[in-house]
Amino acid sequence: MGEIVGIVSGKGGVGKTTLCARLSLALCADGQKVLCIDGDTGMKNLDLVLGMESRTVFDLDDVLSGRTPFEKAVCRHPDAPGLFLLSAAHDYRARIGKEALRALCDEQKEHFDFILIDAPAGLGDGFAAVAYAAERLIVVATPDVTSIRDAGRTATVAREGSGKRAELVLNRVRPLLMEKGAAANVDEIMDRIGLPLLGLIPEDDEIVIRAGGTGAGRKVSDSDIPFRNTAARLRGKSVKLAGVWKKYLLKNGWR
Ligand SMILES: Nc1ncnc2c1ncn2[C@@H]1O[C@H](COP(=O)(O)OP(=O)(O)OP(=O)(O)O)[C@@H](O)[C@H]1O
Ligand SMILES: [Mg+2]
Repeated sequence: MGEIVGIVSGKGGVGKTTLCARLSLALCADGQKVLCIDGDTGMKNLDLVLGMESRTVFDLDDVLSGRTPFEKAVCRHPDAPGLFLLSAAHDYRARIGKEALRALCDEQKEHFDFILIDAPAGLGDGFAAVAYAAERLIVVATPDVTSIRDAGRTATVAREGSGKRAELVLNRVRPLLMEKGAAANVDEIMDRIGLPLLGLIPEDDEIVIRAGGTGAGRKVSDSDIPFRNTAARLRGKSVKLAGVWKKYLLKNGWR
């Protein structure tokens, strides 16, 4: 029986879609069968980041409204056979019914190890539907003050509204700035947001370059390491943060 994970954030543009795509690929590389659902109807991006935009004909709205069977609408990733995508509605005005989304996820979790749902930013209806359908939430934030505050609010809403397990992935971390004391360090950020840490992802140009299907899932690269470790922690495995960071940062010439 799979687990339904919502990927949410307060502030927009912090890396939810990137995390959803790379985490899914990392889980698949570890033998897991993953369904990615793009729950961001307004700013549908997951198909692009996964390099699957030419494959999606039907979408989440087609399935939720009963026009198209799930099996017909879902698309398999060209390079990661265990990864399936249900794209966001083509019509940006479509609304996601929270009961319908939960029913779909509950039905499909028998067939997948993980269902990852990419949410829209903020605390609107899209967030509410994803938070309702998910069993567990990943709040994504960057070390910026605005993102930290917004992630804190999101964590509070998630805790108060659902009491579901929620964890933090801190993205676009620049360790040199933290070392110099020019940016808040990881412990301070965790305290302010009030969530346990699931993953740390560094600022990395390769993450941008590999988005959009230019290699996603095809070649193993150093930029996979933080996503693979986050995926392992999501599966309940213990991966030491410090060691991972040291190795990764040294490889990238940051020290
Ligand atoms: N670790 C990283 N290092 C460098 N760039 C990154 C990193 N993570 C994400 N980005 C870049 O940041 C931008 C925003 O990422 P993304 O679209 O995943 O954010 P989002 O939270 O899904 O945005 P939205 O709220 O609009 O849905 C993209 O250009 C992406 O390539
Ligand atoms: Mg997004």
